[in-house]
Amino acid sequence: MSTQNYDVKDLTLAAKGKLRIEWAAKSMPVLKLIEERFKKTKPLKGLTLAACLHVTAETANLMKTLKAGGANVSLCASNPLSTQDDVAASLVKDFGIPTYAIKGENTTSYYKHLNDVLDTHPHITMDDGADLVSLLHKERQSQLKEILGSSEETTTGVIRLRAMANDKALKIPVFAVNESNTKHMFDNRYGTGQSTIDGILRATNMLLAGKTFVVCGYGWCGRGLASRARGLGSHVVVTEVDPIKALEAVMDGFQVMPIKTAAKIGDFFVTVTGDKNVITYAHMLTMKDGAVLANSGHFNVEIELDELEKRAKSKREVRGNVVEFTLKNGKHVCVLAEGRLVNLAAAEGHPAEVMDMSFANQALAAEFFVKHKGKLEAKVYTIVPTMDQEIARLKLRAMGVKIDVLTKEQKKYLSSWEEGT
Ligand code: ADE
Repeated sequence: MSTQNYDVKDLTLAAKGKLRIEWAAKSMPVLKLIEERFKKTKPLKGLTLAACLHVTAETANLMKTLKAGGANVSLCASNPLSTQDDVAASLVKDFGIPTYAIKGENTTSYYKHLNDVLDTHPHITMDDGADLVSLLHKERQSQLKEILGSSEETTTGVIRLRAMANDKALKIPVFAVNESNTKHMFDNRYGTGQSTIDGILRATNMLLAGKTFVVCGYGWCGRGLASRARGLGSHVVVTEVDPIKALEAVMDGFQVMPIKTAAKIGDFFVTVTGDKNVITYAHMLTMKDGAVLANSGHFNVEIELDELEKRAKSKREVRGNVVEFTLKNGKHVCVLAEGRLVNLAAAEGHPAEVMDMSFANQALAAEFFVKHKGKLEAKVYTIVPTMDQEIARLKLRAMGVKIDVLTKEQKKYLSSWEEGT
């Protein structure tokens, strides 16, 4: 490979990255089945595919699958802090996949890398946060006609794409992977739940038992996080704006209150809302001394960090991924991982077991664009329920779990309306 078509931190990290990619692969049996089928049938033959995803061991396995399907793939990071540099090195050195990602890169480098993958003139793009789709629509419109479709991994990205579709600004078909049950019910809930706690623990090594743990947002990610924090002995408080989700949190046994009230009692605060300024500087002023703040939503806008930076008396890095700010009232707050996705920046992201299903959806989305070439509209598509069920069935089989099947009589009963009391 020429030295031009990649930008990674250090190619000598490749050996370590390869071991991690292989380790993750062992827990990704559904993706493996797809890879084996793709190797035989080459559904993506002759196509160029550009992906903007967190550059992790799990993503590396997706890239291998897409390449096995015949695509020319390239990859850039979907967050400046989530890249695993050893994995990026291995992708280039061991798998010949052009990768543009360096952990800790600045905004200029981040966007240069997005442009690098778009320079390959992809037919299919893959996003985690809709940055490639956004760049294509804002600055590279001439390429839109080359695109068969784009798939989107995350809640925040899907919200962005639906907003584009509602504004009639969306010019290409997109596939909302996040809407698959086999994605959000597992990745968002169990993946975010576990990996967020993992990030907080790796960064702080603090005890969660007996602490008040405030979860802002009770979507799939918030539900998972609240349940895992409770499992570690925290008193969990939930903040919400949606009355149905708030009610669900109450009936799940959590204390629900406005963030203004929660700010005063929390020891840990984690935002998982997809919205901005959920925790403001004004809230921070009322927090306990030493409160820990983290974000596990896609963008680093959920905590009002710009105000904190402007108004804090001083700041210092007290541990890796922990910056302690001294406020004007003399109290301190500790922000983890610069308010970026704490699960990826301070830990390794979701475990491979759940990424297996998310990325099975991604691989099938790429195949979907090929199968329906020329027939799709510029709108947001979601998975057909039978495909979603098939992914779940394959996962269960790989886990050695058997389930019942409907009898003929039961099937008939479910499709009839005459039989009653
Ligand atoms: N998003 C969250 N966890 C991830 C992982 N392990 N790989 C890729 N994207 C992720």
